[in-house]
Amino acid sequence: MTALATIMAGALMAAPAKAEPAVEVLHYWTSGGESKAAGALRQDFEAAGGKWIDAPVAGGGGDAASTVLRSRVLAGDPPNAVQLKGPNIKDWAAQGKLATLDEVAKAENWDAILPPQIRDVVTYKGHYYAVPVNIHRVNWMWVNPKVMEKAGVAIPKTWDEFNTAADKLKAAGIIPLAHGGQPWQEGALFEDVTLGLGGPDFYRKALVELDAKALTSDTMVKVFDQMRKLRGYVDDGFPGREWNLAAGLLMNGQAAMQIMGDWEKGELTAAGKVPGKDFVCAHVPGQFGYIVNSDSFVMFSSANADRAAGQKLLAKLILGKKFQETFNVLKGSIPARQDMARDSFDECAVKSMDDLKTAIDTNSAVPSMAHEMAVPGAVRGAFLDVVTAHFNSTMTSQEAVKRLAEAVDLAK
Ligand code: BGC
Repeated sequence: MTALATIMAGALMAAPAKAEPAVEVLHYWTSGGESKAAGALRQDFEAAGGKWIDAPVAGGGGDAASTVLRSRVLAGDPPNAVQLKGPNIKDWAAQGKLATLDEVAKAENWDAILPPQIRDVVTYKGHYYAVPVNIHRVNWMWVNPKVMEKAGVAIPKTWDEFNTAADKLKAAGIIPLAHGGQPWQEGALFEDVTLGLGGPDFYRKALVELDAKALTSDTMVKVFDQMRKLRGYVDDGFPGREWNLAAGLLMNGQAAMQIMGDWEKGELTAAGKVPGKDFVCAHVPGQFGYIVNSDSFVMFSSANADRAAGQKLLAKLILGKKFQETFNVLKGSIPARQDMARDSFDECAVKSMDDLKTAIDTNSAVPSMAHEMAVPGAVRGAFLDVVTAHFNSTMTSQEAVKRLAEAVDLAK
């Protein structure tokens, strides 16, 4: 070997191998609209040289994905990037399982581009542990205007108006409310009714602070009364139905309205439907407010250099301007970062942006209980158990309120 070749061979051996970014991504974006949006993330990641290993777990709301996550962590083999949100982020961070994203956050100036409400959710003890993707609004009502017109009803603005309209629709042979009977969907209906009837302060007291007086109040009894009414406005096929199949009933004109977060808009637009023409996005009946849900990804610590590089790359791309626009247009949500142009967003997204601002200014923005933004998992479970048990039986509102207060007290 010549002297030069010896030197070069030595240098080659000494040079650290360049990491090849790769991540296994656990997510639950499997419906038509959701997978289009998730596909945009994968494309961006691959275009930047990353290897994406897809680990989707079907099931709206993510309850099935949480079960998979827990078993993967127990088995000592957590996925590298996981769709996770709310207090769950702090829980996993406190267990020392998550990689901090401080380096990317500093380089990309997350402190400046994130609204404080979202920053609080994704940090723990001053460190970033999740990268937020979007802001989804939970309290939307999606309306099929042709069906409403056919039955001669206007979009209801109060729950009394809703009940009158629903009676008329039912008499005309139309399903008033497209609904999927799964605990998270019933939990979301319940929080929407709670905001509508009780307003944001009551919502906060009952569903966030878990105040016993609020939980057993007359207002809470009225919330369950309205839930009982809603039970009469869904079709017989509702038990166990996924939310996107319920969206199908709205699209094909069998149903008139659906109460669902704005991932519904991603589903409707993926099917070629146009906002303002084929469907209308309306505020859920009752008092004004904004129920906040925000998707984010956490990165489980990995000793593998390729995986760690993949995690950093993914975190950087997610809060990049390009991705924030492409993804959120497809997903139906609005960007998590504050400094984005609005041009590519439709009228519902613009309304969401304006309403969020108003809600923050008037202290009317509240975190979603059903979508894991407000309370620990055990408390959410207590709410969902009672709400679903009530919806699917003849339990009285008084009994439901009693059981709810007891279950929440035990879980907290
Ligand atoms: C998530 C959305 C998702 C929806 C239905 C929500 O909890 O935040 O991203 O589209 O569930 O699966």
